[in-house]
Amino acid sequence: MSTTKNVLGVAALVALGAAYFVLHMPAVADTPLPTGPEAIARGQYIYNAAGCGACHQRDGAEGPIGGYEIDNPYGGKFHVPNITPDQETGIAGWTGKDFLLALKHGRKPSGGFYWPAFPFRSYKDMKDEDVLDLGAYLMSLPPINHKVAPHDLPVWQLSIGMAGWNILAPIMEGKSEPVSDDPKVQRGAYLARVLGHCGECHTPRNALGMMQRNHEFEGSTIVKKQIDAGTMSGWSTEEFTFFLETGSTQSFDVVGGEMADVIEHTKLLSPEDKEAYAAFFTRGAGKSGAAAGN
Ligand code: HEC
Ligand code: HEC
Repeated sequence: MSTTKNVLGVAALVALGAAYFVLHMPAVADTPLPTGPEAIARGQYIYNAAGCGACHQRDGAEGPIGGYEIDNPYGGKFHVPNITPDQETGIAGWTGKDFLLALKHGRKPSGGFYWPAFPFRSYKDMKDEDVLDLGAYLMSLPPINHKVAPHDLPVWQLSIGMAGWNILAPIMEGKSEPVSDDPKVQRGAYLARVLGHCGECHTPRNALGMMQRNHEFEGSTIVKKQIDAGTMSGWSTEEFTFFLETGSTQSFDVVGGEMADVIEHTKLLSPEDKEAYAAFFTRGAGKSGAAAGN
Protein backbone atom coordinates (compact mmCIF):
# COMPACT_ATOMS: atom_id res chain seq x y z
CA MET A 1 0.00 0.00 0.00
CA SER A 2 1.43 3.40 -0.94
CA THR A 3 2.17 6.03 1.68
CA THR A 4 -0.25 8.47 0.02
CA LYS A 5 -3.03 5.98 0.34
CA ASN A 6 -2.05 5.37 3.94
CA VAL A 7 -2.13 9.07 4.72
CA LEU A 8 -5.52 9.51 3.03
CA GLY A 9 -6.90 6.54 4.88
CA VAL A 10 -5.62 7.91 8.13
CA ALA A 11 -7.02 11.38 7.41
CA ALA A 12 -10.45 9.82 6.88
CA LEU A 13 -10.13 7.87 10.10
CA VAL A 14 -9.14 11.02 11.97
CA ALA A 15 -12.19 12.91 10.68
CA LEU A 16 -14.50 10.08 11.59
CA GLY A 17 -12.70 9.68 14.87
CA ALA A 18 -13.04 13.31 15.85
CA ALA A 19 -16.81 13.00 15.71
CA TYR A 20 -16.72 9.76 17.62
CA PHE A 21 -14.44 11.13 20.31
CA VAL A 22 -16.83 13.94 21.12
CA LEU A 23 -19.85 11.68 21.08
CA HIS A 24 -18.91 8.44 22.59
CA MET A 25 -17.23 6.70 25.50
CA PRO A 26 -18.22 3.06 26.01
CA ALA A 27 -20.73 2.66 28.82
CA VAL A 28 -18.83 0.70 31.44
CA ALA A 29 -20.00 0.76 35.05
CA ASP A 30 -17.68 1.53 37.96
CA THR A 31 -16.87 -1.97 39.08
CA PRO A 32 -14.65 -2.78 42.03
CA LEU A 33 -11.90 -5.36 41.58
CA PRO A 34 -12.33 -8.52 43.64
CA THR A 35 -9.64 -9.01 46.27
CA GLY A 36 -10.03 -12.58 47.59
CA PRO A 37 -7.36 -15.24 47.05
CA GLU A 38 -9.68 -17.32 44.82
CA ALA A 39 -10.22 -14.39 42.44
CA ILE A 40 -6.47 -13.73 42.34
CA ALA A 41 -5.75 -17.41 41.60
CA ARG A 42 -8.37 -17.42 38.81
CA GLY A 43 -6.81 -14.19 37.49
CA GLN A 44 -3.39 -15.80 37.39
CA TYR A 45 -4.83 -18.64 35.30
CA ILE A 46 -6.42 -16.12 32.91
CA TYR A 47 -3.13 -14.17 32.69
CA ASN A 48 -1.51 -17.34 31.45
CA ALA A 49 -4.37 -18.52 29.20
CA ALA A 50 -4.47 -15.06 27.60
CA GLY A 51 -0.71 -15.04 27.01
CA CYS A 52 -0.29 -11.57 28.56
CA GLY A 53 3.27 -12.47 29.48
CA ALA A 54 4.25 -13.18 25.86
CA CYS A 55 4.37 -9.40 25.41
CA HIS A 56 4.50 -7.94 28.92
CA GLN A 57 6.76 -10.39 30.77
CA ARG A 58 9.64 -11.74 28.74
CA ASP A 59 13.10 -13.20 29.16
CA GLY A 60 12.55 -14.39 32.72
CA ALA A 61 11.34 -10.98 33.98
CA GLU A 62 10.02 -11.17 37.54
CA GLY A 63 6.76 -9.50 36.63
CA PRO A 64 4.97 -7.90 33.66
CA ILE A 65 7.44 -5.01 33.42
CA GLY A 66 7.11 -4.58 29.64
CA GLY A 67 9.92 -3.25 27.49
CA TYR A 68 9.48 -5.73 24.64
CA GLU A 69 9.46 -4.07 21.22
CA ILE A 70 6.84 -4.89 18.58
CA ASP A 71 7.40 -3.81 14.98
CA ASN A 72 4.66 -1.53 13.69
CA PRO A 73 3.58 -2.68 10.20
CA TYR A 74 3.35 1.01 9.19
CA GLY A 75 6.88 1.82 10.43
CA GLY A 76 8.54 2.30 13.82
CA LYS A 77 8.04 0.27 16.99
CA PHE A 78 5.67 -0.16 19.89
CA HIS A 79 7.19 -0.50 23.35
CA VAL A 80 5.06 -2.78 25.52
CA PRO A 81 4.24 -0.99 28.81
CA ASN A 82 4.91 -1.97 32.42
CA ILE A 83 1.64 -3.33 33.88
CA THR A 84 2.82 -3.94 37.44
CA PRO A 85 1.08 -1.67 39.98
CA ASP A 86 4.04 0.72 40.20
CA GLN A 87 3.06 4.32 40.95
CA GLU A 88 5.57 5.98 38.68
CA THR A 89 6.10 3.57 35.77
CA GLY A 90 3.18 1.11 35.95
CA ILE A 91 -0.59 1.02 36.43
CA ALA A 92 -1.01 1.68 40.17
CA GLY A 93 -4.57 2.58 41.11
CA TRP A 94 -6.31 0.89 38.15
CA THR A 95 -9.94 0.03 38.89
CA GLY A 96 -12.22 -2.67 37.50
CA LYS A 97 -13.61 -0.09 35.09
CA ASP A 98 -10.11 0.79 33.82
CA PHE A 99 -9.38 -2.88 33.06
CA LEU A 100 -12.75 -3.39 31.33
CA LEU A 101 -12.25 -0.29 29.19
CA ALA A 102 -8.68 -1.23 28.24
CA LEU A 103 -9.09 -4.93 27.50
CA LYS A 104 -12.57 -4.90 25.96
CA HIS A 105 -12.66 -1.47 24.29
CA GLY A 106 -9.04 -0.42 23.74
CA ARG A 107 -9.58 2.75 25.76
CA LYS A 108 -7.28 4.43 28.27
CA PRO A 109 -8.47 5.52 31.72
CA SER A 110 -8.10 9.08 30.37
CA GLY A 111 -10.46 8.29 27.46
CA GLY A 112 -7.61 8.05 24.93
CA PHE A 113 -7.07 5.14 22.55
CA TYR A 114 -4.76 2.14 22.57
CA TRP A 115 -3.21 0.74 19.40
CA PRO A 116 -4.28 -2.73 18.33
CA ALA A 117 -0.71 -3.98 18.88
CA PHE A 118 -2.41 -4.54 22.24
CA PRO A 119 -4.75 -7.30 21.01
CA PHE A 120 -7.96 -5.85 22.40
CA ARG A 121 -9.97 -6.84 19.29
CA SER A 122 -9.50 -10.41 20.50
CA TYR A 123 -9.92 -9.66 24.22
CA LYS A 124 -13.11 -7.63 23.53
CA ASP A 125 -15.21 -10.78 24.05
CA MET A 126 -13.69 -11.61 27.44
CA LYS A 127 -16.23 -12.26 30.17
CA ASP A 128 -16.32 -9.34 32.58
CA GLU A 129 -15.58 -11.61 35.53
CA ASP A 130 -12.45 -12.90 33.78
CA VAL A 131 -11.25 -9.33 33.19
CA LEU A 132 -11.91 -8.42 36.82
CA ASP A 133 -10.13 -11.52 38.19
CA LEU A 134 -7.21 -10.74 35.89
CA GLY A 135 -7.14 -7.16 37.19
CA ALA A 136 -7.20 -8.49 40.77
CA TYR A 137 -4.20 -10.69 39.97
CA LEU A 138 -2.21 -7.86 38.37
CA MET A 139 -2.89 -5.49 41.26
CA SER A 140 -1.79 -8.18 43.74
CA LEU A 141 1.70 -8.32 42.19
CA PRO A 142 4.64 -6.46 43.68
CA PRO A 143 5.13 -3.10 41.93
CA ILE A 144 8.32 -3.01 39.87
CA ASN A 145 9.81 0.33 38.90
CA HIS A 146 10.80 -0.06 35.25
CA LYS A 147 10.51 2.79 32.82
CA VAL A 148 9.59 1.87 29.25
CA ALA A 149 10.36 4.25 26.37
CA PRO A 150 7.40 5.85 24.54
CA HIS A 151 6.33 4.27 21.23
CA ASP A 152 8.40 5.22 18.23
CA LEU A 153 5.78 5.74 15.49
CA PRO A 154 5.58 7.65 12.19
CA VAL A 155 4.45 11.26 12.77
CA TRP A 156 1.30 10.83 10.67
CA GLN A 157 0.10 7.98 12.83
CA LEU A 158 -2.06 9.68 15.47
CA SER A 159 -3.93 7.66 18.05
CA ILE A 160 -7.10 9.70 17.50
CA GLY A 161 -7.32 7.79 14.19
CA MET A 162 -8.08 4.77 16.34
CA ALA A 163 -11.45 6.30 17.14
CA GLY A 164 -12.48 5.78 13.53
CA TRP A 165 -10.71 2.43 13.37
CA ASN A 166 -12.71 1.30 16.40
CA ILE A 167 -15.98 2.16 14.64
CA LEU A 168 -14.98 0.45 11.40
CA ALA A 169 -13.42 -2.70 12.89
CA PRO A 170 -16.67 -4.39 13.99
CA ILE A 171 -18.09 -3.82 10.50
CA MET A 172 -15.00 -4.60 8.42
CA GLU A 173 -13.73 -7.58 10.42
CA GLY A 174 -16.66 -9.74 9.37
CA LYS A 175 -17.94 -12.56 11.51
CA SER A 176 -16.31 -15.81 12.54
CA GLU A 177 -18.19 -18.98 11.80
CA PRO A 178 -20.66 -19.95 14.53
CA VAL A 179 -19.82 -23.22 16.30
CA SER A 180 -22.06 -25.91 17.73
CA ASP A 181 -23.35 -25.45 21.25
CA ASP A 182 -21.32 -28.39 22.59
CA PRO A 183 -19.89 -26.78 25.77
CA LYS A 184 -16.42 -28.17 25.03
CA VAL A 185 -16.34 -26.62 21.56
CA GLN A 186 -17.75 -23.36 22.98
CA ARG A 187 -15.04 -23.25 25.66
CA GLY A 188 -12.44 -24.01 22.97
CA ALA A 189 -13.78 -21.15 20.83
CA TYR A 190 -13.50 -18.78 23.80
CA LEU A 191 -9.94 -19.95 24.47
CA ALA A 192 -8.80 -19.75 20.84
CA ARG A 193 -10.62 -16.66 19.60
CA VAL A 194 -10.60 -14.57 22.76
CA LEU A 195 -8.09 -15.51 25.47
CA GLY A 196 -5.45 -17.26 23.37
CA HIS A 197 -5.86 -14.60 20.61
CA CYS A 198 -4.67 -17.21 18.07
CA GLY A 199 -6.22 -15.17 15.23
CA GLU A 200 -3.90 -12.21 15.86
CA CYS A 201 -1.20 -14.14 13.99
CA HIS A 202 -3.14 -16.81 12.08
CA THR A 203 -6.00 -14.77 10.59
CA PRO A 204 -5.33 -12.52 7.57
CA ARG A 205 -5.80 -8.74 7.94
CA ASN A 206 -7.08 -6.03 5.61
CA ALA A 207 -5.05 -2.95 4.65
CA LEU A 208 -6.09 -1.20 7.86
CA GLY A 209 -4.75 -4.10 9.91
CA MET A 210 -8.15 -5.50 10.88
CA MET A 211 -8.50 -9.27 11.26
CA GLN A 212 -10.72 -10.82 8.58
CA ARG A 213 -12.84 -13.10 10.72
CA ASN A 214 -14.65 -14.63 7.76
CA HIS A 215 -11.20 -16.01 6.80
CA GLU A 216 -10.42 -17.08 10.35
CA PHE A 217 -7.17 -19.06 10.76
CA GLU A 218 -6.58 -19.22 7.01
CA GLY A 219 -3.02 -17.88 7.33
CA SER A 220 -1.48 -14.41 7.32
CA THR A 221 1.71 -12.56 6.51
CA ILE A 222 3.08 -13.84 9.85
CA VAL A 223 2.29 -17.51 9.28
CA LYS A 224 1.09 -18.87 5.95
CA LYS A 225 0.05 -22.33 7.04
CA GLN A 226 -3.71 -22.66 7.53
CA ILE A 227 -5.08 -23.90 10.85
CA ASP A 228 -8.79 -23.53 10.09
CA ALA A 229 -11.31 -26.26 10.95
CA GLY A 230 -11.03 -27.89 7.51
CA THR A 231 -7.24 -28.14 7.67
CA MET A 232 -7.12 -29.25 11.30
CA SER A 233 -9.79 -31.91 10.91
CA GLY A 234 -7.01 -34.44 10.24
CA TRP A 235 -5.60 -33.98 13.75
CA SER A 236 -6.79 -36.17 16.63
CA THR A 237 -7.58 -34.74 20.07
CA GLU A 238 -4.40 -36.39 21.40
CA GLU A 239 -2.26 -34.90 18.64
CA PHE A 240 -3.62 -31.43 19.34
CA THR A 241 -3.29 -31.58 23.14
CA PHE A 242 0.26 -32.93 22.67
CA PHE A 243 0.95 -29.96 20.38
CA LEU A 244 -0.29 -27.47 23.02
CA GLU A 245 1.96 -29.18 25.55
CA THR A 246 5.15 -29.57 23.50
CA GLY A 247 4.87 -27.58 20.27
CA SER A 248 5.36 -30.79 18.32
CA THR A 249 3.16 -30.92 15.21
CA GLN A 250 1.50 -33.87 13.55
CA SER A 251 4.57 -34.24 11.33
CA PHE A 252 6.88 -34.15 14.40
CA ASP A 253 8.33 -30.73 13.62
CA VAL A 254 8.67 -28.54 16.69
CA VAL A 255 7.37 -25.01 16.12
CA GLY A 256 9.76 -22.13 16.71
CA GLY A 257 9.76 -18.35 16.93
CA GLU A 258 6.65 -16.64 18.20
CA MET A 259 4.72 -19.90 18.26
CA ALA A 260 7.23 -21.31 20.77
CA ASP A 261 6.29 -18.38 23.06
CA VAL A 262 2.63 -19.35 22.66
CA ILE A 263 3.36 -22.96 23.70
CA GLU A 264 5.08 -21.64 26.87
CA HIS A 265 1.58 -20.58 27.91
CA THR A 266 -0.63 -23.30 26.44
CA LYS A 267 1.46 -26.03 28.10
CA LEU A 268 0.34 -24.67 31.50
CA LEU A 269 -3.39 -24.98 30.73
CA SER A 270 -5.54 -27.53 32.55
CA PRO A 271 -6.10 -30.87 30.74
CA GLU A 272 -9.79 -29.86 30.28
CA ASP A 273 -8.83 -26.61 28.57
CA LYS A 274 -6.34 -28.36 26.29
CA GLU A 275 -9.10 -30.77 25.30
CA ALA A 276 -11.46 -27.85 24.73
CA TYR A 277 -8.90 -26.28 22.37
CA ALA A 278 -8.65 -29.61 20.55
CA ALA A 279 -12.44 -29.94 20.33
CA PHE A 280 -12.65 -26.49 18.73
CA PHE A 281 -9.78 -26.83 16.23
CA THR A 282 -10.63 -30.39 15.16
CA ARG A 283 -14.40 -29.78 15.07
CA GLY A 284 -14.42 -30.42 11.32
CA ALA A 285 -13.49 -34.05 11.93
CA GLY A 286 -17.04 -35.30 12.33
CA LYS A 287 -16.54 -35.97 16.02
CA SER A 288 -17.71 -33.60 18.76
CA GLY A 289 -19.63 -30.62 17.47
CA ALA A 290 -19.34 -31.53 13.81
CA ALA A 291 -22.37 -29.40 13.04
CA ALA A 292 -20.23 -26.31 12.47
CA GLY A 293 -22.28 -23.51 11.05
CA ASN A 294 -25.39 -23.77 13.17
C1 HEC B 1 0.70 -8.99 21.42
C2 HEC B 1 1.26 -8.27 22.54
C3 HEC B 1 0.38 -8.04 23.74
C4 HEC B 1 -0.34 -8.96 24.47
C5 HEC B 1 -0.49 -10.45 24.21
C6 HEC B 1 -0.94 -8.22 25.56
N1 HEC B 1 -0.58 -6.91 25.50
FE1 HEC B 1 -1.07 -5.47 26.85
N2 HEC B 1 -0.28 -4.07 25.63
C7 HEC B 1 0.47 -4.31 24.49
C8 HEC B 1 0.87 -3.05 23.90
C9 HEC B 1 1.71 -2.88 22.64
C10 HEC B 1 0.32 -2.03 24.71
C11 HEC B 1 0.42 -0.52 24.50
C12 HEC B 1 -0.73 -0.06 23.61
C13 HEC B 1 -0.75 1.42 23.39
O1 HEC B 1 0.03 2.14 24.03
O2 HEC B 1 -1.54 1.90 22.57
C14 HEC B 1 -0.39 -2.72 25.79
C15 HEC B 1 -1.06 -2.06 26.81
C16 HEC B 1 -1.64 -2.68 27.91
C17 HEC B 1 -2.22 -1.99 29.03
C18 HEC B 1 -2.30 -0.48 29.23
C19 HEC B 1 -1.14 -0.01 30.06
C20 HEC B 1 -1.08 1.48 30.27
O3 HEC B 1 -0.09 1.92 30.88
O4 HEC B 1 -1.96 2.22 29.82
C21 HEC B 1 -2.69 -2.96 29.89
C22 HEC B 1 -3.37 -2.73 31.24
C23 HEC B 1 -2.39 -4.23 29.30
N3 HEC B 1 -1.75 -4.03 28.10
C24 HEC B 1 -2.72 -5.43 29.87
C25 HEC B 1 -2.63 -6.65 29.18
C26 HEC B 1 -3.19 -7.88 29.67
C27 HEC B 1 -3.90 -8.05 31.01
C28 HEC B 1 -2.94 -8.83 28.73
C29 HEC B 1 -3.42 -10.26 28.69
C30 HEC B 1 -4.86 -10.42 28.77
C31 HEC B 1 -2.21 -8.16 27.65
N4 HEC B 1 -2.04 -6.85 27.97
C32 HEC B 1 -1.75 -8.81 26.52
C33 HEC B 1 0.77 -5.55 23.99
C34 HEC B 1 0.21 -6.74 24.41
C1 HEC C 1 2.42 -14.26 18.01
C2 HEC C 1 1.95 -14.97 16.83
C3 HEC C 1 1.20 -16.27 17.02
C4 HEC C 1 0.15 -16.53 17.86
C5 HEC C 1 -0.53 -15.58 18.84
C6 HEC C 1 -0.23 -17.90 17.61
N1 HEC C 1 0.57 -18.46 16.67
FE1 HEC C 1 0.48 -20.42 16.00
N2 HEC C 1 2.09 -20.06 14.81
C7 HEC C 1 2.76 -18.86 14.69
C8 HEC C 1 3.92 -19.07 13.82
C9 HEC C 1 4.92 -17.98 13.44
C10 HEC C 1 3.89 -20.42 13.43
C11 HEC C 1 4.90 -21.15 12.54
C12 HEC C 1 5.98 -21.67 13.47
C13 HEC C 1 6.99 -22.57 12.82
O1 HEC C 1 6.72 -23.08 11.73
O2 HEC C 1 8.05 -22.76 13.45
C14 HEC C 1 2.72 -21.02 14.06
C15 HEC C 1 2.36 -22.36 13.91
C16 HEC C 1 1.23 -22.93 14.47
C17 HEC C 1 0.80 -24.30 14.23
C18 HEC C 1 1.53 -25.34 13.42
C19 HEC C 1 0.93 -25.60 12.11
C20 HEC C 1 1.69 -26.73 11.44
O3 HEC C 1 1.06 -27.73 11.15
O4 HEC C 1 2.90 -26.56 11.23
C21 HEC C 1 -0.38 -24.48 14.92
C22 HEC C 1 -1.24 -25.73 14.99
C23 HEC C 1 -0.64 -23.24 15.61
N3 HEC C 1 0.34 -22.32 15.32
C24 HEC C 1 -1.72 -23.05 16.45
C25 HEC C 1 -1.89 -21.89 17.23
C26 HEC C 1 -2.88 -21.77 18.27
C27 HEC C 1 -3.84 -22.83 18.70
C28 HEC C 1 -2.73 -20.50 18.79
C29 HEC C 1 -3.48 -19.86 19.96
C30 HEC C 1 -3.31 -20.55 21.23
C31 HEC C 1 -1.66 -19.85 18.07
N4 HEC C 1 -1.17 -20.72 17.13
C32 HEC C 1 -1.25 -18.55 18.31
C33 HEC C 1 2.44 -17.66 15.29
C34 HEC C 1 1.46 -17.50 16.27
